[in-house]
Amino acid sequence: MKTVKDYIRTIVDFPHEGILFRDVTTLFADPRGMRMAIDQMLHPYAGQPIDKVVGLEARGFIIGGAIAHQLGTGFVPVRKKGKLPGETLSQAYTLEYGEAVVEMHTDAIQPGERVLLVDDLLATGGTAGAGIKLLERVGADIIGCAFIVDLPELGGRKVLEDMGMDVHVLCE
Ligand code: PRP
Ligand code: ADE
Repeated sequence: MKTVKDYIRTIVDFPHEGILFRDVTTLFADPRGMRMAIDQMLHPYAGQPIDKVVGLEARGFIIGGAIAHQLGTGFVPVRKKGKLPGETLSQAYTLEYGEAVVEMHTDAIQPGERVLLVDDLLATGGTAGAGIKLLERVGADIIGCAFIVDLPELGGRKVLEDMGMDVHVLCE
């Protein structure tokens, strides 16, 4: 039987020479692959109360929407700067070259709400780390951070664990 990893395609030299891009669109496009990924992401949290699923732009929206539907919770997007229409909180983070900023609506999560943070892939942990900081600033109770893929050589898992997070990944 195929595993989640078997559905993920690798594109060589995208978006830059020397990068092996782990492309989850082939996983999402397959009905068995998509269901397997969502079910496995949810598995550790079975029976735990969750108020909201938070997804990181862009592929975290696809996963987060499916997980929120399955759990019967709300969904909250963390977006790249300048995309959200209401009052936002901003958080800068470091990229390989330079900085980027993510934002979340100020009123999207109430203090004490139990949230699950999701994205497709964990690399350096910069993006997820910024999402965690936004959630901490609004007083969310982050019950876990779940990803389809971890790239262990980039150290993101340790970054999030050092922030006190419980990290769940489906494959490396
Ligand atoms: C990718 C991926 C994660 C992030 C992981 O998104 O979907 O969000 O990189 O990298 P990091 O752990 O080093 O922060 P990308 O920045 O390519 O944005 P996109 O999903 O909007 O294309
Ligand atoms: N984001 C950062 N590094 C990546 C990679 N190698 N594949 C897919 N997304 C990424």
